[in-house]
Amino acid sequence: MHLKFSSALIAAVSIAGLLLAANSPPSDSKQKASGHKKAAPSKNTAATFEKMVQPVLAKSCAPCHNEQLASGGLNVGAFVNPASVTQHREGWEKILQKIRSGEMPPQGVPRPPGAQVDALLSFIQSEFARIDRTVKPDPGRVTARRLNRSEYTNTIRDLLAVDFRAEKDFPTDDSGHGFDTIGDVLTVSPVLMERYIVAAERIASRAIGRSASPKAARSRIPLQKQNHTPAVA
Ligand code: HEC
Repeated sequence: MHLKFSSALIAAVSIAGLLLAANSPPSDSKQKASGHKKAAPSKNTAATFEKMVQPVLAKSCAPCHNEQLASGGLNVGAFVNPASVTQHREGWEKILQKIRSGEMPPQGVPRPPGAQVDALLSFIQSEFARIDRTVKPDPGRVTARRLNRSEYTNTIRDLLAVDFRAEKDFPTDDSGHGFDTIGDVLTVSPVLMERYIVAAERIASRAIGRSASPKAARSRIPLQKQNHTPAVA
């Protein structure tokens, strides 16, 4: 019973070092969804879009960029509502770039008045800025990682009330950008794995009240009292 418990404990402590210090990613899907909701165009935006953007696209672009005749693979039908600024941002960026550079509409085709072009450009750009302000920044995922030495020490103390100094037994943690908590550099080397296993045995035996390294019991038995039965092969 005792033995079974101690080997289970050793196994548990062995993997304690590999406990993953993975916080849940700071921006979860719920936040992302609400971020998008906030970026949804207001009524005011929709009105401005209908007044300043749609007519220009319909008049100057749609003749060549429609469902039947999608010149250059572009159909402005996908860009007729304010939501498209969020949904088809890359497409809008291309459109702005072509208009700004004067490439579109092509030479020889009547272009919209300069004031209309300017209004369209500045409106879409301010929409980009508004969307960028409301969407929560996505810092990405936190890489799952092993505990570093001080975290290991603290974890063993908190879980098992054993005072184990990982900084004496384990190799120095690699650091990245000056921090020793960077998942991408906290690797598990074969040496560290060996130390984990050795440490686990010591920690487990201390946790269940045995000394760190039980001394072999030595006692001298007087020669004449020894039992001289031959060893069983
Ligand atoms: C007379 C026809 C015509 C009109 C009008 C026209 N385009 Fe084009 N457009 C083309 C053709 C042809 C191409 C493909 C060849 C090229 O890229 O020059 C093209 C390509 C493009 C592309 C590149 C598509 C891609 O994915 O590479 C964009 C963006 C574009 N047009 C935007 C506009 C916008 C915005 C307007 C209105 C302000 C407009 N065009 C008006 C004929 C037209």
